[in-house]
Parts: sequence; structure tokens; C-alpha cells
Amino acid sequence: MVYHVPWIYTPVRTILAIWHQLTKTEIPELTKCSVLMRERSRVEEMIHAMQRAGAGSLQVISDFDMTLTRFAHNGRRVPTTHNILDNRLLISEDCAKKMKDLLNTYYPVEIDASRSTEEKLPHMVDWWTKVHELLIQQKIRKDLLAQAVKESTVMLRDGYKEFFDHLAEQQVPLLIFSAGVGDILEEVIQQNRVFHPNTHVISNYMDFDHAGVLQAFKGQLIHTFNKREGALRRAAGLTALQGRPNVLLLGDSLGDLTMADGVSEPENVLTIGFLNDQVEQRKESYVNSFDIVLVKDETMDVPNAVLRHIISGRDRK
Ligand code: TMP
Ligand code: MG
Repeated sequence: MVYHVPWIYTPVRTILAIWHQLTKTEIPELTKCSVLMRERSRVEEMIHAMQRAGAGSLQVISDFDMTLTRFAHNGRRVPTTHNILDNRLLISEDCAKKMKDLLNTYYPVEIDASRSTEEKLPHMVDWWTKVHELLIQQKIRKDLLAQAVKESTVMLRDGYKEFFDHLAEQQVPLLIFSAGVGDILEEVIQQNRVFHPNTHVISNYMDFDHAGVLQAFKGQLIHTFNKREGALRRAAGLTALQGRPNVLLLGDSLGDLTMADGVSEPENVLTIGFLNDQVEQRKESYVNSFDIVLVKDETMDVPNAVLRHIISGRDRK
């Protein structure tokens, strides 16, 4: 028995120490002061399990506005896909003013830490419905959307190219799940040359008539807090995502946490939340809800480092 042969302790301890070193997840980006984690060891265990399972078991599900795009640049807000439409090529000054008033009324509700999701729900439906009605009245022309995106100040987060390209190279499916406007979202990633074949988009798409004029929005409305329904109805049916039980989920709203609800038999769902605004009021709920919280971080550095680690075991010490 072991306690009769004390010499065995040293090799066993050495082997255990080496094993621990080998399996320890050391990602320097996770030590930045903008990174908050409720349970660091759980994050490390999950990353390690996902790395062992490999790229073939992984899918990435990401929100778009203020998650893949920046929240601000040089102190100015970066437009969301809806706000990119605020261009005189597409909508009148009066419509732009009405959309701004709606944003000023409803965005504070969307991010209000003192209200529950249930309380926010009807307000979100009102906001999206009113904006889409306004947009339809403007008779927006499909052939002018690309120009509006070019003229806008939209920016993907720093490091976006590595994020999109790495996933494409490794054939890891990327599902972008957005309550924004799908046609604009696609144009943004096209113009940044990162719309690869592994990318799938679920969003609010415009419906144009035969002359290319906006006449409606297609399908069921997606807003910030009904992504679960969309996940069950739409994402669950995407064959490219099937048989991939490990998920890296990226979002900037608590509503984004339900984007992986359509994944069948998930094994590890690692969630990263960008906390862009109202930091002090929302910090606690974000830390309690996301595995990793990035405070006012305008880069993709942490998701990229996690992906490098999961996919190729790089950065391992
Ligand atoms: P996301 O799901 O890609 O983040 O898109 C939803 C965001 O769009 C949400 O945070 C609110 C924002 N939004 C606007 O900026 N303007 C609008 O008119 C509407 C309806 C939503
Ligand atoms: Mg968002």
C-alpha cells in the first residue's frame, strides 16, 4: 500500500503537478482588468473541455449590434443596423427625428437594470413595430442600402478579421443572431470582406416588391428579448449547427443569453457578455449571468484568445 512506500509520493506528486500544468488554461487576455468572472475555475474547465473536444464540436453564436460592432469610437456612438438607415438617401428628416425620439424613449427601457425582462417585453415590441412601420412608409430602395452602409460610421470591433477568418479557416459555423436589420448587417460584413460561407444569419429581413421598394419585414419580428423563440423556431433547424454541442456565445444584452436555447443536448455553453453602457448599475447582473464579462472593451481580443485556445490549443503554457 502506498503509505508503506513513501518514496512513491514524490513521483505521484510530480506526475500530478505536470498534469495540472498541462491542463491549466492560461490565457493572458483573461487577466486584463476589464475582464470580470464569477467563477474563473469554471471558465477554465469549460475552455479546457471544449479544447479537448476540438473544433469539430464547436459552434459560435453571436449577437451583432454592439457585440460584433463597436459601441463607441472616439467618444461617439457607433450606429446600429437600424441607425445606419438614418441617411437622407433612404429616409426623410422627419422620419429620422421620429426614430431618434423612439430610441430616446425605449433604449433606456431596454437597458434598465431595475426592470424585469417581462416588464420590458411589450415596450420592445412597441419600439420595433413603430420603427418598422415608419421605415415601410419611407419606401426605401434596396439598391441604395450599400451606399448608406458605406457612408455610415459603423465599425466592427478591433480584431474582427481574426475572429471571422479563423472560424472560417477551421470550418466552425458562426450563427449571427440579430434583432437588427438583416440586409444592413449582411452589407456591413460584406463591405468588411468577412462574410464567409460558414456564416449564418437570423435577423429581421426587409421584404422588397418587384421594383425593389421596401413593402414589409419578413417573418416573425425579432427584438432583444424574444431571441429564445427564434432560437427554438429557426436556429434549431440549421443543419450546419447540428452535432456541435459546444457553444461560444457572445452578446451585449441579457436577452442574448437565450440565443443558444435551440442547441440540442448542449455540453458546454461558454458565454461572453460585453458590458458597454450603464456599467455600475448592470455589473452585478452581468457577472451573475455571463461566464465572462468584458467591461467597456471595444475589441475582440478576449473572444479571439479563447477561440485560439479552444481550436488550436495555442497560448497553452
Ligand atoms: P442586436 O440584436 O443585433 O443587438 O440588435 C438590436 C439592437 O438594436 C438593440 O440593442 C436596440 C437597437 N435598436 C436601435 O438602435 N434602433 C432601433 O430603432 C431599434 C428598433 C433597435
Ligand atoms: Mg446587441
